[in-house]
Amino acid sequence: MRVAIAADHGGFPLKGRLAQVLRDSGHEVVDLGTHSTEPVDYPDYARALGRAILDGQAERGVLICGSGAGAAIAANKMRGIRAALAHDTYTAHQMVEHDDVNVCCLGARVVGAELAAEIVSAFLPARFTGEERHVRRLGKVLEMEKEGK
Ligand code: RB5
Repeated sequence: MRVAIAADHGGFPLKGRLAQVLRDSGHEVVDLGTHSTEPVDYPDYARALGRAILDGQAERGVLICGSGAGAAIAANKMRGIRAALAHDTYTAHQMVEHDDVNVCCLGARVVGAELAAEIVSAFLPARFTGEERHVRRLGKVLEMEKEGK
């Protein structure tokens, strides 16, 4: 799978390790920066990653900031992006199976590198079940997205 990865300076320390985990698992990685711990603004990286998915350059995204919160908030402002913060492996796969999440957000100041690696390894193989109740609920989320309020 083609996977986009991006981080702000808070997420940068984790990005290289996760990109390597993805490559080792056979994924093609689109690295959208940042490339140092020099302070940057997380919405810029959320926007770049969201656009990569919406433009078809990647199927899924991994977005990292210090807490994962700003990353998730910003990414979810983009129509068609469903981003969720996952700091455990159950959430990492269930959020795809039930909620069709396409961006996994992580906080590099919250989770260690090995747990983060397990989280992305649970996220990427997961697939939306397409079960009626999940489709119905997702439809309601998409209605809210369309209404914008
Ligand atoms: C940067 O200091 C930090 O605010 C950012 O990485 C993120 O945690 C925001 O939610």
